[in-house]
Amino acid sequence: MAALFEKTSIKSLELENRSVRSATWSAVSDRKGFVTDRAIEFYSTVTDGGIGLIVTGFQYVMANGIAMPYQMGNYSDDCLEGLSRLVGAIHSRGGKVVAQLVHTGSKANPKLFPEPGEIWGPSAVTDPLTSSTPKEMTQQDIHQVIEAYAAAASRSQKAGFDGIQLHGAHGYGINQFLSPATNQRTDGYGGDVNRRYRLLGEVMEAVKGAVGKDYPVFIKLSAHDYVEGGFTPEEALHVARRLAEDGIDGIEVSAGSRASSDGMIPSRKNVLKEEHEAYLAPLAARFKETVNVPIVTVGGFRSPGVVSKVLSDGLADYVALCRPLIRQPDLINRWKSGDLDKATCISCNGCFETGTDGQGVCCKIDKELKEKGRAS
Ligand SMILES: Cc1cc2nc3c(=O)[nH]c(=O)nc-3n(C[C@H](O)[C@H](O)[C@H](O)COP(=O)(O)O)c2cc1C
Ligand code: SF4
Repeated sequence: MAALFEKTSIKSLELENRSVRSATWSAVSDRKGFVTDRAIEFYSTVTDGGIGLIVTGFQYVMANGIAMPYQMGNYSDDCLEGLSRLVGAIHSRGGKVVAQLVHTGSKANPKLFPEPGEIWGPSAVTDPLTSSTPKEMTQQDIHQVIEAYAAAASRSQKAGFDGIQLHGAHGYGINQFLSPATNQRTDGYGGDVNRRYRLLGEVMEAVKGAVGKDYPVFIKLSAHDYVEGGFTPEEALHVARRLAEDGIDGIEVSAGSRASSDGMIPSRKNVLKEEHEAYLAPLAARFKETVNVPIVTVGGFRSPGVVSKVLSDGLADYVALCRPLIRQPDLINRWKSGDLDKATCISCNGCFETGTDGQGVCCKIDKELKEKGRAS
């Protein structure tokens, strides 16, 4: 486990080990997206489990950018007090945390908007999952989104976050602009890959302008849409080169969305054998060969041996986990202490269903076991 427990740094960000909690919508905010005491408790538990870096669940940067109930907001200075409290709790326990920022574009859920509003997308392409057809954004709308990202990044810095991560994956706003399946614009924001990159390039410029060049700015990028006519790894590698030129500090390589074919969704099911694990590491390795920025691999890490091998083979610099830490928030400390049992998560995705009551996302299997225990 030597490589996993190596100390590293990215700019001013000093990390205890090479494990990352991949962004996890945790349904622990209130209906306005404000941080609650439950959120503090939730993130404190994850911090105490020994993770090197936490990426928060996706925080919406504009009122019409929310997709999930009790999602965390970063859309106005009213959010600042709670976000600062959250960071304070994590830092006081020795943790490091970056804020994941998102506008969910055509995947936004208008039932969660504070007041009636439009759903926005790069083009009026019906979303296969929500069945809503967004309004094609005007250039004024685009500038509003870019400014909202910059304002949220600046707010994150004020709140004390150790950096930000742009959500450029899983079929949300930035990914929608990058993908030819959802971006069919004929102006300067659509067309070849460089034009589809324009929104992201302008977000990078605005964010960097807002937070300064020394503040870490990361991205989670889908390297493959796994939909017909979608964004491909070759285009994603080109985007990675552009991001490196524009000053990105690290790329977490993900892939797919809930619309992807053949189960190639970001949270793949049935990761039960070692050969199913690390399912995006080969894609991450292509980024590692292409750009000279830290690369994070995510997707299906369950066994400490697989984590070690991916790191020691140099396929990525950091390994991110999501579902295993929902079931066992102390997994990294367990591995550190020499208990090398694999994670008990069975990759059933039941946890996606658990966040809807406002009590927070949890392991559905454990919840059912507890309920049975209580009933018997
Ligand atoms: C309940 C849940 C919430 C998630 N929320 C986010 C999120 O807010 N942002 C994001 O980029 N990915 C999100 N993901 C995807 C994970 O970060 C990760 O990419 C995926 O689950 C694969 O990693 P794993 O096999 O370690 O779970 C979520 C996944 C789950 C299960
Ligand atoms: S419900 Fe539990 S076992 Fe199933 S994927 Fe989520 S954390 Fe893993």
